Amino acid sequence: MLGSGGREHALSWKLAQSRLLSGPQDRLYAAPGNPGIAQHATCVELDARDHAAAIAFCEEHRIGLVVIGPEAPLVDGLADSLRGEGFSVFGPSKAAAQLEGSKGFTKDLCARAGIPTAGYIRTRSFGEAVEALAGFQPPYVLKADGLAAGKGVVIPETREEAVAALEDMFGGRFGAAGAEVVIEEFMRGEEASFFALTDGATILSFGCAQDHKRVGEGDTGPNTGGMGAYSPAPVLDAMARGEVLEKIIAPTVRTLANEGTPYSGVLFAGLMLTDQGPKLIEYNCRFGDPECQVLMTRLKSDLGELMLACADNRLGTCEPAKFASDTALTVVIAAKGYPDAPEKGGAIDLGSAEACGAKVFHAGTKRAEGGALVADGGRVLNVTATGRNVTEAQAAAYRAVDAISFPTGFCRRDIGWREVAREAEPTS
Ligand code: AMP
Ligand code: GLY
Repeated sequence: MLGSGGREHALSWKLAQSRLLSGPQDRLYAAPGNPGIAQHATCVELDARDHAAAIAFCEEHRIGLVVIGPEAPLVDGLADSLRGEGFSVFGPSKAAAQLEGSKGFTKDLCARAGIPTAGYIRTRSFGEAVEALAGFQPPYVLKADGLAAGKGVVIPETREEAVAALEDMFGGRFGAAGAEVVIEEFMRGEEASFFALTDGATILSFGCAQDHKRVGEGDTGPNTGGMGAYSPAPVLDAMARGEVLEKIIAPTVRTLANEGTPYSGVLFAGLMLTDQGPKLIEYNCRFGDPECQVLMTRLKSDLGELMLACADNRLGTCEPAKFASDTALTVVIAAKGYPDAPEKGGAIDLGSAEACGAKVFHAGTKRAEGGALVADGGRVLNVTATGRNVTEAQAAAYRAVDAISFPTGFCRRDIGWREVAREAEPTS
């Protein structure tokens, strides 16, 4: 398992329960891991950018399956390097990871395959971008083409602000990621996330979720990696899920396979539920963080077997993935100052948070000298609980949050608010 966040803790926790790891010789290694992951795996130092070192490690330890958690090593082609040496890898090739690595690549693919998404133009010229604004209504949606850690999208209200933002992007604010810019039509609606496993031929639905991207309550303030999430997302009902599979996921998988760059791994679609049906906002080539934490909490199938089948192109032999019908909800506890300048080193005492069945996934934590748990990142803990609906799962998650002592941390108190409000509406 490569990675060190809350997503990788949830994946490691679930992988550790797999039949693949039930033998006395079986081992789960995590690189670099974190103190939560260390409860399930042997944590090792390994630089994912050093492909030769990754190959050498896999050879030495006779690794049967490599799971790549985050996007950067996927976009960097680590899956190709490992597959080239005969290892089974869960995660797409460099060519297929372009779905996340280049927004323009995805928009062009949608255009070729007739996938519903916002109208767009892509350009490498500041002058052309400014001219193109005339073809769009405010608010303007401006995106740096490449990976920008979730910060590459700007949505200015006025033309003046849009020009200033374009100046910024072409001026190098996002480095090479901003050398090309995509301008999109603004879509209105509620956002939801849909996940599918695919080996390039077979597609298995793998759950849905909603997250809260903004740092502040009521979904205000700057964007973050995600301050909380819940699964399932009742707004994505069975009909909408069917439409997403048929009109968005299937044509994407088919087109990539036909063009000689089949996608293998988890495909994470960010969706806008518009008046005209679900439309694609963007693709990610890995699990969402913290969406993964709620998906894994509900997953009943053997994650290791599904991932290995996916890696070995035999997903068609697997049963559909099974999830508990309960709702899972996770609250992110971040270090004060997140997302700009999170305070490091704050003391954490998890207390009795897990006593009532909640699960605390570690994201940015580490062991200080002497072994005490301290904060070591922006998003620090993911406190996850279940219930019969979002209201119950939310109450259980905040009970666990309140059992934790982390004076330099903070969390939103309203994760799941849209659904809690809908659940409180009288049913007629
Ligand atoms: P992305 O990184 O592409 O997911 O964009 C980040 C966020 O910007 C999304 O979660 C949406 O809230 C918003 N966004 C992106 N594209 C659009 C669009 N075309 N219309 C409206 N909002 C958008
Ligand atoms: N939580 C959003 C993401 O992982 O991209």
